[in-house]
Amino acid sequence: METHTITPTLKYICENAANAGRDIDLNGCDYGPHKRTNLHLGVQPYYHFLAGFARTLGCKKILEIGTSYGGSMMAISRGCGAGQAGLELVTVDKIDLAGQGLSGLLHITRIHGDSMLPDTLGLVRAKISPPIDLLYIDSKHSYDHVTGNIRSYVGEFRPRFLILDDIHLNAEMENVWREISAKFGDQAFDASELAQRPVGFGVAAY
Ligand SMILES: C[S@@+](CC[C@H](N)C(=O)[O-])C[C@H]1O[C@@H](n2cnc3c(N)ncnc32)[C@H](O)[C@@H]1O
Repeated sequence: METHTITPTLKYICENAANAGRDIDLNGCDYGPHKRTNLHLGVQPYYHFLAGFARTLGCKKILEIGTSYGGSMMAISRGCGAGQAGLELVTVDKIDLAGQGLSGLLHITRIHGDSMLPDTLGLVRAKISPPIDLLYIDSKHSYDHVTGNIRSYVGEFRPRFLILDDIHLNAEMENVWREISAKFGDQAFDASELAQRPVGFGVAAY
């Protein structure tokens, strides 16, 4: 009898992630102080999506560009199940004070540096090895920055999945997402609704 392997669609994968993420306890995974108001913000809805994504896909090696306070990486780590063997969780930010929320979480590597600089790529290379499960980019929301990061970090770390935050934030980000959608076809999915992220949340599978 002929057997067929059924590959789940990216939409189905994202729906699963969103469903699983709802049940993951993210208490304490705070966004941290808001850039302009300085008000301390708590758990963001898209953190549940990220945690569910990491869990349902069994991700172990994850690289984030744009740590800020550390809420998203903390949520991802909850999704992976902190303490799991083989975890390589690395987050990069150009700001010195980034990652305050991650202090004490020794299984998460924080790298201080501008992601666009070769030196920073070198620091990341020393901490996580290809292929990785997920590259999550949430740093400067400009065309050159995001496409530059995709070129460098996808080329070097060969992720299974790429997630981009804020794909509808401005015209440049819309442009990035338009190009990815055209290139990836049904291997790119706009998960903004599932992630409850009106400014946009895009997922692409390599
Ligand atoms: C929107 S915040 C990240 C939020 C975080 N991922 C979360 O969801 O909780 C963007 C961060 O990207 C960092 N960033 C901006 N440009 C960068 C660059 N060239 N290299 C590294 N980090 C950068 C900023 O310092 C800031 O902390």
